[in-house]
Amino acid sequence: MRILVCKDYNEVSQKAAQMILSQITLKPNCVLGLATGSTPIGMYENLVTMYQQGLVDFSEVQTFNLDEYLSISPTNEQSYHYFMNEYLFNHVNIDKNHIHIPNGMADSMQEECIRYEQLIKDVGGIDIQVLGIGHNAHIGFNEPTINFEKGTHIVELDESTRQANARFFNHIDEVPKYAITMGTGSIFKSRKIMLLATGTSKAQAIHDMVYGKVQPEVPASILQFHHDVVLILDEEAASLLLDGDYKRV
Ligand code: GLP
Repeated sequence: MRILVCKDYNEVSQKAAQMILSQITLKPNCVLGLATGSTPIGMYENLVTMYQQGLVDFSEVQTFNLDEYLSISPTNEQSYHYFMNEYLFNHVNIDKNHIHIPNGMADSMQEECIRYEQLIKDVGGIDIQVLGIGHNAHIGFNEPTINFEKGTHIVELDESTRQANARFFNHIDEVPKYAITMGTGSIFKSRKIMLLATGTSKAQAIHDMVYGKVQPEVPASILQFHHDVVLILDEEAASLLLDGDYKRV
């Protein structure tokens, strides 16, 4: 696990965008795994600027998002469909047919999980997966539980996750109770993983992920076993890590 520590959020965002740019430059038809949440917003803004400057071409890129709330329409401002259009897809030359986000409104959610997992396989897997991390160390919407889930599945959100995400809604009661998410197994199969975290509120989760026992109660801890993971942190998120374990950039 490579750990890079940046001065602040802006530098984390720039560094992350540069890594995506390098990936697309190396392989123009690459498959990106994308995340939502406040953390990657700066990375998306940097990518939009790079696109406007002619530095990056999304025309052959395929994307797979990690997750979506259940029973929220894609036009709802709180949906992850809306988020992705707002922060990235509406501003770059991606082919709309190359965008994949789990459908939280499918008639059969069980079939949707199978369909999504199969789609990832059909395109040959994810080249680089972007992740944020929850305060309880969740990745995607894989909440702490008693087993690592292999594939895309339905999950009941933790009360702490609903509280954390309530800031985007008018009231906590509006925060969905369920979501569809790629499993820790689907995430783990990605060729590269880049996890972003900023702020002191993420320091404990980062500490537990890096040093703790690998266990489903700390979903991100599985990344200790992955062969190509980079964490891009600001100083606050890295504040519980030992100096020698990371590189300042
Ligand atoms: C949500 C998303 C995660 C994200 C997490 C942290 O729960 N499903 O993918 O990593 O929030 O979000 P934030 O970056 O806003 O702290």
